[in-house]
Amino acid sequence: MTMKVRDVTPTAENSTNFNIVPDVETVVGSTLDNLKAAVAGETGASAKYAEFSRLAKEAGYDQISRQFAATSAAEQIHIKLEVAEIQKKEPTYVPPEAADAKGFQTDVNLISGALGEIYETSDMYPNFIKVAIDEGESSAELVFTRAKLAEAVHAELYMDAYNNIDAPDDRKFYLCPVCGYIHKGDDFEKCPICFAPKSAFKEF
Ligand SMILES: [Fe+2]
Ligand SMILES: [Fe+2]
Repeated sequence: MTMKVRDVTPTAENSTNFNIVPDVETVVGSTLDNLKAAVAGETGASAKYAEFSRLAKEAGYDQISRQFAATSAAEQIHIKLEVAEIQKKEPTYVPPEAADAKGFQTDVNLISGALGEIYETSDMYPNFIKVAIDEGESSAELVFTRAKLAEAVHAELYMDAYNNIDAPDDRKFYLCPVCGYIHKGDDFEKCPICFAPKSAFKEF
């Protein structure tokens, strides 16, 4: 399970999983528009996962509560990177506040999380990456690419938690502070997305 470390960090150019799903839901604009849309999406996701973490803890799912907290923090990393890109172009930009998030039962919240992550990794981010490449926006391309790759892992981990909801273990979650990748358990050396060393990771 989870993502293998390749010889080089994955990019749209050296990977074959950056295609866009056929039924696109994303409204695609310029890279600046897309960065703002990504911040809005990530802000909603981060707030949702924080609420899901609280609900999971309340319901006695300690490991899943930590997972939601780690993933909420991962989305905050994406927000920070995207806001920095926006502010290069628009120094006065202020990111939006998160709306109140509502949660349901923990199994349903895991599905909700997985669906959101699948959307981001297969529709929103690959669309934004394509525009960034076309516009020669290489730093935005890098931010979108790392987020896209991390979201797919978040989705995988949500489905893993769903399938094992009644079989928790004591493994911790490790968050890459550079790109938002999450590893379940401590059996890894470095981030498969950005190659940050294990020592930099934050434990949940
Ligand atoms: Fe995510
Ligand atoms: Fe990373």
